Amino acid sequence: MKPIPPRRRTRRGARTALAVTLAVGLTGAGALIFANTAQAADTLGGAAAQSGRYFGAAIAPNFLGEAQYADTLNAEFNSIVAENAMKWDATEPNRGQFNFSGGDTLVAHAEANGMEVRGHTLVWHAQQPGWVQGLTGDDLRQAMTDHIAGVAGHYQGQISSWDVVNEAFEEDGSRRQSNLQQQLGDGWIEEAFRAADAADPDARLCYNDYNTDGINAKSDGIYAMVEDFLARGVPIDCVGFQSHLSTDSNLSTYQANLERFAALGVDVEITELDVGGSGSAQADVYRTVTEACVAVDRCNGITTWGITDKYSWRGDDTPLLFDDAYQKKEAYDAVLEVLNSAAASDEPTGEPEQDQALPETFAWESTGELVDQQQTAPDRQLVSIKDPSVVNVDGQYHVYATTADTGGGWSLTYFGGFSDWSEAGDAEQLHLTTTAVGGGYRAAPQVFYFEPDDQWYLIYQTGLPSFSTLDGPGAPESASAAQNFISAHDPIVDEGSSYVVDYWVTCDEANCYMFFSNSNNTFFRMQTTVDEFPGGFGDTQVLMASPGDNGLFEALNLYKVGDTDQYLLIIEAIGASGDRYFRSWTADSLDALGDEWTPLADSESDPFAGAANVSFPGGVWTNDISHGEMVRTNPDQTMQIDPCDMQYLYQGRDPASNGMEYSQLPYRLGLLTNTNPAC
Ligand code: XIL
Repeated sequence: MKPIPPRRRTRRGARTALAVTLAVGLTGAGALIFANTAQAADTLGGAAAQSGRYFGAAIAPNFLGEAQYADTLNAEFNSIVAENAMKWDATEPNRGQFNFSGGDTLVAHAEANGMEVRGHTLVWHAQQPGWVQGLTGDDLRQAMTDHIAGVAGHYQGQISSWDVVNEAFEEDGSRRQSNLQQQLGDGWIEEAFRAADAADPDARLCYNDYNTDGINAKSDGIYAMVEDFLARGVPIDCVGFQSHLSTDSNLSTYQANLERFAALGVDVEITELDVGGSGSAQADVYRTVTEACVAVDRCNGITTWGITDKYSWRGDDTPLLFDDAYQKKEAYDAVLEVLNSAAASDEPTGEPEQDQALPETFAWESTGELVDQQQTAPDRQLVSIKDPSVVNVDGQYHVYATTADTGGGWSLTYFGGFSDWSEAGDAEQLHLTTTAVGGGYRAAPQVFYFEPDDQWYLIYQTGLPSFSTLDGPGAPESASAAQNFISAHDPIVDEGSSYVVDYWVTCDEANCYMFFSNSNNTFFRMQTTVDEFPGGFGDTQVLMASPGDNGLFEALNLYKVGDTDQYLLIIEAIGASGDRYFRSWTADSLDALGDEWTPLADSESDPFAGAANVSFPGGVWTNDISHGEMVRTNPDQTMQIDPCDMQYLYQGRDPASNGMEYSQLPYRLGLLTNTNPAC
């Protein structure tokens, strides 16, 4: 099973088992999805899948019995949405009495045919059942959250993305004065998203609207809301652009609008596309929209609002890709061609993405001491907090770190669930000795989401490389007992060495690599296939070696640089006067060994990060910039970072502690923010 391309993002990085199955099913059918082949596909869904996208249609369950309808759907589309069957009036005609018959029919059809399901829509001012319209105040609030819990709960795990809230803005960018807005006030949209998040933590949660086909007052209003939600950690993952268009729609800023939302950190989807018109004029509009989507990495897919003109809600506008007789229209050919060209341009040999580059030299600004150890280990007195591994999922940070104790023992701790680094120090630490991870020698954690198996991993050293699984990044109590990846190291690892430390995993589409170092300044790499992970690690090779030279010391990180084909390798060194700093290299493949890694910023005077290039506006509190990790907003096994927005969580210490026994050094955590991004 190959990993899902980055643009098929999921909430919390967590993809439902169903969605994984579906994606794999499609791979099996066409073998095209992840192959990045330039070979053209001859269906909309197949062509979209080549670049990791879906192509969907709004469906009514009662038409599935019509052979041409079902045949066209099954042949051409790999995603569906209910045109009406999942709306409030259909699913809860009387308060507390749910009717899922239509929606269930669609979900069953999707599952049987390897399609994703979008959910439309949990809360909307229109198509509310009569009983909702008279409700006021908290009664309406309760009805809304009960409805969301009932519907999103019923379909939990089966929906790729939900339109949680539909059409809540006026054309001037203010809130639409619906019963929801008037009765519940501005907070209702946020309340709806939180309720949906609780009911289906795995679905991506979208805000959906129309007349947002460019940068305009309405899309500005939505943009401001999304920005605010993300800043405050309100769970939102995507914005749907309905795109009910005609041949005179002005699409001059259509793509730029998608881009600005994507840049905020949400996915974008074209959710209800239809274009009134015919012939080449209609085809041109479809082409423009499809080109915009495939040009934006975070544009996950396109849904047309129906299959055939015969059943379009827009009556005489003939707005769809198939005519009344299910014949493909000119617009169909345009869309298919663009989808296929996107797949071709995804070839690794495609143009380098200039906008995702690393700087040649680095400059950072550091916080002061941000996080101190809390005495949360029942059985030991802690002296430091070290070696942080950090992900940001749904706007919340989750950190796993090492703690050292007065007895020289190493163990692990967790803190997280905050959305602003100013809260990091106060976040309660949960010591992993209180979980199944246990209290023996455990250090240097790395946390990540292994997307192919929908499983979170915490890996760490116990001498050998070990791991626990987690239910989620913020669920340390769910950790399983430590298991070893391998039963023994290859003998070359122990040559001239007294210990092995700092295991690190990075995967590409086919393989997972595990990196580590020994006490003889030698770095190694083992590998397994993505299919076999966490099993199968072997084939130990030397990555880099400089025995006796502390310029190649420990604490390796290895990241994929954005959407480029470049990898960034970081290794900690000990400098001339004993201070810790990081060196860096790049390569175009995880397969690279030795000289195949090109030095980037790799000296104490020109480091990746060290005393030479870190400024401390609040005063210097450490001379060491030591073992840590880049803040990852894509938490999956590809270890992808955004070079345009880098932060590095590190360990530092009061220089007055120089000379103390190593295990007793009072390491604390601080955060670096890159101040000279190249993009
Ligand atoms: C439309 C359906 O297509 C019609 O069958 C129904 O009568 C009214 O709703 N924006 C939306 C969709 O979000 O739910 C609407 O669907 C079209 C406009």
